[in-house]
Parts: sequence; C-alpha cells; structure tokens
Amino acid sequence: MKKKVVLTGMRTTGVLHLGHYVGALKQWIDVQNTGEYECYFLLADVQALTTHANNPALLTRSIREVVLDWLSVGLDPINLPYVHFVQQSQVPERHELSILLGMVARYGEVMRDPTLKSELEHQSDASMGFLYYPVDQIADIHMVDPMAQGAELLVPVGEDQLPHLELAREVARRANHMYGTSFTPCDGLVGHIGRLVGTDGNSKMSKSMGNTINLSDDDKTISKAINGMPIDPTRSGKGGHTKPGDPDKTVAFIYHRAFNPNIDEVAEMEELYRTGNIGDGDVKKRLKEVLAEFLAPIRARRAQYDNANLAEIVLDGTMAARDACRPVVASLRESMHLLLP
Ligand code: TRP
Repeated sequence: MKKKVVLTGMRTTGVLHLGHYVGALKQWIDVQNTGEYECYFLLADVQALTTHANNPALLTRSIREVVLDWLSVGLDPINLPYVHFVQQSQVPERHELSILLGMVARYGEVMRDPTLKSELEHQSDASMGFLYYPVDQIADIHMVDPMAQGAELLVPVGEDQLPHLELAREVARRANHMYGTSFTPCDGLVGHIGRLVGTDGNSKMSKSMGNTINLSDDDKTISKAINGMPIDPTRSGKGGHTKPGDPDKTVAFIYHRAFNPNIDEVAEMEELYRTGNIGDGDVKKRLKEVLAEFLAPIRARRAQYDNANLAEIVLDGTMAARDACRPVVASLRESMHLLLP
C-alpha cells in the first residue's frame, strides 16, 4: 500500500447531481488520476442512517445508484488497483475504532463544531447517532491511516466539512499524546469552485429543494429544468431580450461558467447579454448542448457499467479497507490496554 492515502465519502441518500460533481466528484477524479494515492471512496450508509433511520429501504437503492454514479463519472476501481469503493456498514473494524476514538474526543469540542451546531438547529429530534457522527467520521478517516513516518492522509471535502476535519486532527494528536499511537493528522482539500447554485437560482443545489439536475437525468428532463431557470428580471416581458441584462442574475450563465469548456464563447455571450443583443432562449439552447456534451461520456460509462457486478466491486474495496483497518485498531487497542487479563 502507498503511504499517501486519500479517504473521502458521501452519505448514500439518493442519486447524485451536478452539484455533487462540481463540489466533490471532479476533485476526487483529479486526485485519483494523479496515481499518487491509495484512494478509498466511502459509501457512508451508516452515516446516512443518522438522518434517514426511518427509511432504510432508501439506503439499499441509494448504494447502487451512488456506485453507478461514481463509476459513470470516471472513478475507476475496476482498472485502477489503488482505487477502492468501501461500504461503511461492512467494515466491523471501523465500528470498533469509532467507539475507541470516542473516548478521546471530548463532548465540549464536538458540540462546538459549527457544522454540527447549525445542522442541529434544523433537527428537532436528532438521534444519538447523529450527535456522534463527527466522531464516527474520524474513524472513517483513520481506518486507512498508514500510521507510518512520512505518511499523508488527504481528505477532499466540501467547505462545510472542514470543522469535522479540524476535530479529527485534534483527536489524532491527542490520541498520539495520550497513548503513544502514530495516527497521521489528516489534511483537508477543498476545491475552488465549491458550490453550484440550484436550477432555481437558490444558493445550493439540493434534492429536498427540487432544484437539481441529476447525473442520470435524460435530455428531456434537463431541457425542462433549463427552460425554467430564472433570468435577469429586467429582461422578462415583451421585448425583454433587447434590454441590457446582468449575467450574474441569470442562472444559465452560472452553469455556462461551470460547464462550458469554451471560456471565450461564454465571455462573448455575456457581453452580448449586457448590451441586449442575445435572447435568453439562445443562451439556454446553447447550455443544453453544453450539458449534453458534458454528460455524453458519463452516460456512455453508465450504460457500460449497468450490468457490472456492483456487489463484487464494493466487496473488493471493502476488503481492502478492512485489511488497512485491522492493524490500526490492533495498535490502538493495545495502546489503550484493552488486553486479556
Ligand atoms: N459527512 C460527509 C458528507 O456529508 C460524508 C462523509 C462520511 C465523509 N464520512 C466521511 C467525508 C469521511 C469525508 C471523510 O459529505
């Protein structure tokens, strides 16, 4: 195994959308393609239960969907021996690591985690599992810790996850101090594009807001979503297309900036828009083509993998994570004096 390790994950709560691509997957693919890291991509089905405990059937379906989405964007555990898809619930060693690290993490510091705090404000009836998830996620990260001199443990995430990583670093250092273990404090990696606005212009694309374009959507669905994208309101109404408009207030332009590889064309269209020389219909028509081109290879891979043995892929990756996790747990257990009398 390489000494440079990547671990990151997603909760398996449904099909993935363009926001997931821009905010996470694109970066995962880039890191994978450097070839420098042993990569573990975690299907966080246990963490999905922190908010979806009343809908376990959703998880079964979602794991399949997420694996297919991951394969279709180009994560490649089939051809790259250093890439692993890991199903969280299938790594019992990780659960043990989680409870042991829970003795090192402090209640106060977990409750001060700003991401957890703001999530709790929107949850009137949070489970104990939910409260514990920032700690449980530390076990996700360290289950594949090489625990060796010069190791690197990289965690590509969205910005909202950074407080969790800060907590992870603190707990790793404290464990090393208290028990003489050699956990590698992790490093976060945040992309520059970050978040994609929803098709309704809302600052976040999210299934619950119904403003997504999914990676698995067909052209007709996408066309409908694009037609509904808000435009600069000064241009609505008769003759609006001849009025000067602001591309920043026009959702289709935000998508062009994220997905249209032809930067010059985007700049040109924006200039025409500012001077009232291009219609919103044309901007949107071009966006449909751009997204169709972007999705073409993704759709081709999805078709190719539709009959693949997904269970085998996940089982392989999960076994690799279990192999990595065993010595980590053994070392911590011993350092904590959890030994037979
Ligand atoms: N909490 C992360 C999210 O909602 C998913 C996740 C679970 C994760 N375990 C992880 C991310 C470990 C990074 C590392 O996006």
